[in-house]
Amino acid sequence: MKIIKVKDQIEGGREGFKVFKDALADGANVFGLATGSTPISVYDELTNSDVDFSEKTSINLDEYKGLSGDHPQSYRYFMNEHLFNKKPFKMSYVPDGMADAATETARYEKIIADNPVYLQLLGLGQNGHIGFNEPGTPFEMGTHEVALTESTIQANARFFASEAEVPHFAYSMGIASIMKAKEILIIAYGAAKADAVAAMIEGPVTESVPASALQQHANVIVIVDEAAASKL
Ligand code: GLP
Repeated sequence: MKIIKVKDQIEGGREGFKVFKDALADGANVFGLATGSTPISVYDELTNSDVDFSEKTSINLDEYKGLSGDHPQSYRYFMNEHLFNKKPFKMSYVPDGMADAATETARYEKIIADNPVYLQLLGLGQNGHIGFNEPGTPFEMGTHEVALTESTIQANARFFASEAEVPHFAYSMGIASIMKAKEILIIAYGAAKADAVAAMIEGPVTESVPASALQQHANVIVIVDEAAASKL
């Protein structure tokens, strides 16, 4: 794993932007994208740049089950707001939270198979989750329906009017789907992520820490600020 330490999210956004530029220069056609607060500064850099995604494809990691794309807390809505409205791709896939699980997970795995991801961007959950792969998720799983843990529901409640409104289920690319990407960029900021960062990089490879699977990927870049790196 290549670790890049940055001062803050602004600098992290600039470093993340460079990774995207390099991938584009190398001919990347498909980008795996993530939601959450962490990637926003990368998306800001991308939208303020001259990069052109109009012939490219994006595939998002996950979506809340039961939220339609026009719900302000859906991940489709988030992506439209932070990236797609300003920097459109030729095709942007996000799981359909309104579809039934069997149909949607099969459809999504086919999309990933047909569009191999070159660069996968990831945030990191406080409990070490990536996408919505919670601790205990078998590494072999592809896109699947997930029951969110209490810690994730609480962490994400800040975006909703109340915790009661946070969906309890989601569709997420699995660890196996994520590991197919040629290159992975994972970003974490803040002291609340320090344990997860240390476990991801220095801990044993274990399904209790989904992000530790990345130790088995040949091409991973980690961007962390000082607080997130404080337990390394
Ligand atoms: C959610 C998302 C993850 C994201 C994580 C961390 O659970 N499904 O993809 O990485 O939150 O979010 P944040 O970047 O806001 O800390």
